[in-house]
Amino acid sequence: MQTKFLLGENQIPTHWYNIIADLPAPPAPVLHPGTMKPVTPADMLPLFPPGLLEQEMSAERWIKIPDEVREIYQLWRPTPLIRAHRLEKLLGTPAKIYFKYEGVSPAGSHKPNTAVPQAYYNKLAGTKRIASETGAGQWGSSIALACQMFGLECTVYMVKVSYGQKPYRKSMMQLWGAEVLASPSPRTNAGREILARDPENQGSLGIAISEAVEDAATHDDTRYALGSVLNHVCLHQTVIGLEAKEQLKLAGDYPDVVIGCHGGGSNFAGIAFPFLADKAAGKQVRVLAMEPSSCPTLTKGVYEFDFGDTAKMAPVAKMYTLGHDFMPPGIHAGGLRYHGASPLVSQVVHHGLVEARAVGQLSCFEAAVMFARTEAIIPAPESSHAIRGAIDEALAAKAEGKPRTILFNLSGHGHVDMASYDAYFAGQLEDYEYPAEKVKESLRHLPKVPAL
Ligand SMILES: Cc1ncc(COP(=O)(O)O)c(C=O)c1O
Repeated sequence: MQTKFLLGENQIPTHWYNIIADLPAPPAPVLHPGTMKPVTPADMLPLFPPGLLEQEMSAERWIKIPDEVREIYQLWRPTPLIRAHRLEKLLGTPAKIYFKYEGVSPAGSHKPNTAVPQAYYNKLAGTKRIASETGAGQWGSSIALACQMFGLECTVYMVKVSYGQKPYRKSMMQLWGAEVLASPSPRTNAGREILARDPENQGSLGIAISEAVEDAATHDDTRYALGSVLNHVCLHQTVIGLEAKEQLKLAGDYPDVVIGCHGGGSNFAGIAFPFLADKAAGKQVRVLAMEPSSCPTLTKGVYEFDFGDTAKMAPVAKMYTLGHDFMPPGIHAGGLRYHGASPLVSQVVHHGLVEARAVGQLSCFEAAVMFARTEAIIPAPESSHAIRGAIDEALAAKAEGKPRTILFNLSGHGHVDMASYDAYFAGQLEDYEYPAEKVKESLRHLPKVPAL
């Protein structure tokens, strides 16, 4: 019984897959936060280099991966596809469970798949410094490492609650040469305003994004980088699903259901979009996004235009949103706390091509522990949401007494998240359902968008 399905370095994909080519309708325009008119490339050039803007707007199905990026991918890609025999046995399920393991990257998650090309296109465009934000620190450490590879400076605004909870992520960023600030910080107007109103503010991704965007917009040599949500980020992550498809061929299998956890949508897009290409071509495959019940963007949010950040400086996009002033509770899957979702993921959910499910953190930690005790890998708390989804699918197959082939993305390891596991074992974690009334309240502040 084979466990690992491996590809050679020469099988790293040569192109990223762009789902825009296969969507049932063109994506809604992205709007300027000041004028509410569709953004133009000129609006975005202070923030993003031309190479990334081109990808953001492209409708080409396949986009070539530059050789310089593939060479760095070779440090850890192709990542393994693993059959979870021991978990299947524990569950007593007729289902086959495969997982793609992105935790083998140097930063420990899928995030370097996009950090590296983002740093590359910035270097090409003459950018000297990148300003970015991070929640749990997975993205911050990935952009720090990518900047180091291309000789760029890097400033990371880290959500304050995580700055305290994940001190080693901060150390990793510093080791790879980045400057790390707890957000809200006194460095920016956005941060100073929030601190003046609420000195104890624990931060949110929305606030940290405002700070990083302001930093980039007010410095000529600096551009902004985002670790999720945007089209080009989802595009770069498709190496995950493209490799998984080849690896499943080696296993002689094809999934009935593909599962990813959902924060801003990038690892989910990475595993799912290449399979949605098959679905567009008529193949039967279910696709499932797993999100926390404390930040239930896809299951309780609305599909409307909203700001990408709290200070209303980032572009306005049509997406599932809980409202840009959503203040997330301090749950332990810090990377899943964004108020919005990738417009592309939102669109495929809206078209009914993807199912979304919200789960509480306790059942996710339970799944993570079950996984670590059978498959040995300690998952990131974010990834444990995908494991929960896979286990529930395997148990449903058992209840039906029918086989089912399940593929999920294990987006990262949890070696730097052990404080969360300690809190779980100490009985200090609680489930939290984000109340519908709070969603309603936040949604009152959605921007007024003129008919387009
Ligand atoms: C391990 C891991 N998985 C998933 C996510 C969620 O982000 P996204 O939805 O963009 O994949 C994060 C975010 O930091 C993460 O660190």
